[in-house]
Amino acid sequence: MAKRGLQDVSVRNQRVLVRVDFNVPIEQGPEYIASYDHRLRQTLPTIQHLQRQGASIILCSHLGRPGGKALNELRLWPVGDRLAVLLGSKVTSIDQCVGGCVSTAVGNMSPGDVLLLENLRFHVEEEANDPGFAQQLAAEADLFVMDAFAVAHRAHASTVGVPQYLPSCAGMLLQREIEYLDRALASPEKPVGALLGGAKVSDKITLLNNLLGRVDRVCIGGAMACTFLKAQGYGVGASIVEEDRLEYASSFLERASTEGMQVLLPSDVTVAASLDETHTQTSNAHAIPQGLSVFDIGPQTASAYGALLAECKTIIWNGPMGVFERDPFRPGTERVAEAVATSDAVSIVGGGSTAEVVETLGLSDKIAHVSTGGGAALEYLEGKELPGIAALPDE
Ligand code: 3PG
Repeated sequence: MAKRGLQDVSVRNQRVLVRVDFNVPIEQGPEYIASYDHRLRQTLPTIQHLQRQGASIILCSHLGRPGGKALNELRLWPVGDRLAVLLGSKVTSIDQCVGGCVSTAVGNMSPGDVLLLENLRFHVEEEANDPGFAQQLAAEADLFVMDAFAVAHRAHASTVGVPQYLPSCAGMLLQREIEYLDRALASPEKPVGALLGGAKVSDKITLLNNLLGRVDRVCIGGAMACTFLKAQGYGVGASIVEEDRLEYASSFLERASTEGMQVLLPSDVTVAASLDETHTQTSNAHAIPQGLSVFDIGPQTASAYGALLAECKTIIWNGPMGVFERDPFRPGTERVAEAVATSDAVSIVGGGSTAEVVETLGLSDKIAHVSTGGGAALEYLEGKELPGIAALPDE
């Protein structure tokens, strides 16, 4: 059922509390935020819409996991400063998220002003979904807009508590996320291809099960491919294998074949003695040398995956093909990313660190939808109901 959206409510001259997810990498200093500001950019349509309508915009977010303590390194003002650059207008950051200081700041706002409250997780009550804390947040506004898709899988005071005390709706980013993820899952243009990578089969079981019957082709990469290769009876050298998932992997391959879903596993791989090794070699995936481990898919596999995906009308991509952070093991992911970006398909990237990969490669603009959600996108693709969406009223 569709949720009430920003277009369905009047916001003119209203005080609007907007839950955003500004949980961006901040460890390396404020300048660094500019390299990873996808989440900030994606909230601009909602904020600009509210500005045009003369609303007073009160933004709230978490940053990191401070565990209920106020930590200077997790204050939100550097993020507010970056937002001001992107918006081209002033953003006032304050060092509290509830209480008298917030009431005063809100009281001083003029139509179109943007106020950024302090990190919600400085208060244990946020993650505990404390009703009193939710009421305090709600007290400063006339309307609540949920635009933080990336944290919609958490039942916290600012995601599921506040909508109990204020008229609420979905923001434009949240609507866009739902639209694209539903387009991939519920009513995709066929054939649908999925590109799945990452470390562990165990992290992807629910996703694999949910894709069965919906997707026509699945290309598997990442360390998890080794568990599938071993389940097929091949040796994988010194690669890490999830022995307790071998049975799942072979039963998945059987079910996929019964359902007519084509599953591709690597035919060649990049191997090395260790992750720190700069000397790497390409090996046949069915004859991996003893003592060497798989850290990336090989060039032949990357081309085969690229060619298969090029024939698809919809592509879902979750998880890198290798240890992308290390240069020697980056080419496999780079090659498939190029293939996804240049295909004519509606491509949806989401879950885990995949969005960061695409952002690092500067390919975000060539992909129909790069989800802002890590865990949230994965859970949505797994078919789970996200509490932060469920808490909003229907259209
Ligand atoms: C994320 O970055 O995935 C979200 O902001 C949620 O963060 P969390 O995993 O700390 O709840």
